[in-house]
Amino acid sequence: MDLIPGPLQATVHGSEFFELDAGTRLAAQAGTERTERWLRSTLTAATGLPLAPAAGTGGTGDTGDTGVIRLSVDPAVAGELGEEGYRLTVSPTGAELVGGGPAGVFWGAQTLRQLLGPDAHRRAPLPGRRWRLPRVRVQDAPRFRWRGLMLDVARHFMPKDGVLRYLDLMAAHKLNVLHLHLTDDQGWRVEIRRYPRLTETGSWRARTKFGHRASPLWEEKPHGGHYTQDDIREIVAYAAERHIAVVPEIDVPGHSQAAIAAYPELGNTDVVDTTALTVWDNWGISENVLAPTDDTLRFYEGVFEELLELFPSRFVHVGGDECVKDQWRRSPTAQARIKELGLRDEDGLQAWFIGHFDRWLTARGRRLVGWDEILQGGLAPGATVSSWRGYGGGVAAARAGHDVIMCPEQHVYLDHRQDAGPDEPVPIGFVRTLEDVYRFEPVPPELTAEEAGRVLGAQANVWTEVMEDRSRVDYQVFPRLAAFAEVVWSALPAPPERDFAGFERRMAAHYRRLDALGVAYRPPTGPLPWQRRPGVPGRPIDGPPPVR
Ligand code: ACM
Repeated sequence: MDLIPGPLQATVHGSEFFELDAGTRLAAQAGTERTERWLRSTLTAATGLPLAPAAGTGGTGDTGDTGVIRLSVDPAVAGELGEEGYRLTVSPTGAELVGGGPAGVFWGAQTLRQLLGPDAHRRAPLPGRRWRLPRVRVQDAPRFRWRGLMLDVARHFMPKDGVLRYLDLMAAHKLNVLHLHLTDDQGWRVEIRRYPRLTETGSWRARTKFGHRASPLWEEKPHGGHYTQDDIREIVAYAAERHIAVVPEIDVPGHSQAAIAAYPELGNTDVVDTTALTVWDNWGISENVLAPTDDTLRFYEGVFEELLELFPSRFVHVGGDECVKDQWRRSPTAQARIKELGLRDEDGLQAWFIGHFDRWLTARGRRLVGWDEILQGGLAPGATVSSWRGYGGGVAAARAGHDVIMCPEQHVYLDHRQDAGPDEPVPIGFVRTLEDVYRFEPVPPELTAEEAGRVLGAQANVWTEVMEDRSRVDYQVFPRLAAFAEVVWSALPAPPERDFAGFERRMAAHYRRLDALGVAYRPPTGPLPWQRRPGVPGRPIDGPPPVR
């Protein structure tokens, strides 16, 4: 059946099938409305079939009718498979999709689309195509409840439509958390009404470095853009239709040069002339970090207040990574603050800063998430940790009773090169192949069962310093996101026992799905996209690949 991510259990019964045609109807019971809308719009676009509502649906009717795809929610399925689990049964006369909850129905609909074949992932029907569901019974449920993708829209801006497209791609892979890295030294990407300069000034930089830190090359043109609050509402609503939560990240107190360029009083004005700062045009970690003052806290409370209006997500990410403390060491104001608060050092100051927002978010019914540096100087009581510098931060946090999202850079940073060969475009970081990602294990063996239960899940992170447009993002993200999706959804054995050859065989069908979805993935064999010559498949262009 070639499903990706692979289901818990699937049985094909013979060679019979249910064929969809112009008379096929959708019978959606209460709780399945989002899936009904998604199925009708998606499958109608792909197949041209109307998939009209079955008569008398919305609670009762249509028992026994043929030619119907039935959607429902059943607490018994939730008891067995959880709210995100589902059971899909196809007979020659129809299909029945029962979710443990509304999300389970939606994930089951993704399976149903895969069963219809790769062409069901197109946006316009191919003529003469027949739409058959094999006679199957699938029982399925996710391994983790946090199946995340982080998009860094700060280093290179991804306009709203690109984010909506990524939400569709996430849904197709049964991923359910989009973490948006909205601010960094190089750009501020979300409108904040009370601080308009954050986007007026902070969302544009004058130029961009080609490639990575050591590159001497510059692209001498401005780069920028931001999401209006309407854009964000649209993104959040589009995600919610797909049972995806959008977790916003405002990175503090480091990675904040764009904000300081917009509002110089946010920086350490006693050691640097922050009025001379611009949105950063280089890569790396800026030493221009926020001043640890009450005014800064009040400013960011204002930012988070507007953020909470826009993002209903329980989790709110405050960054906390890579805060260079040099300015705090030199700043009389910061040093006075350390004394006044009775802190040990600058790490304590960072913990104080993060602890403030932990209390502030908790008081508003939300939960703080931060990168694993928030462990330094003491972890705030309510904090959840994104473990990125390896497993260590996550292990320490889980042992201390905190929730954890595993996203170690050595395994699931998708900006890192995916092949050791010389042809990768701007090859950075570790070599992490499709197989490496497939063998990523979110729960390290040293955790006890109780501690392992605090690993909410895992996340693939996409930092965009070397990804200036959608094609480059696609190339880095796919096909590896498919392997990641299987790691977080499917109940795979321990990494050495994982059947990568079997996964690769299923990927043959999945590449055709990605083609139908218009994804510019890294091809598993043959020339890379920029090495193809029209009409001469398989023949690379001579010479090195372009720098970007
Ligand atoms: C990070 O990669 N700085 C979280």
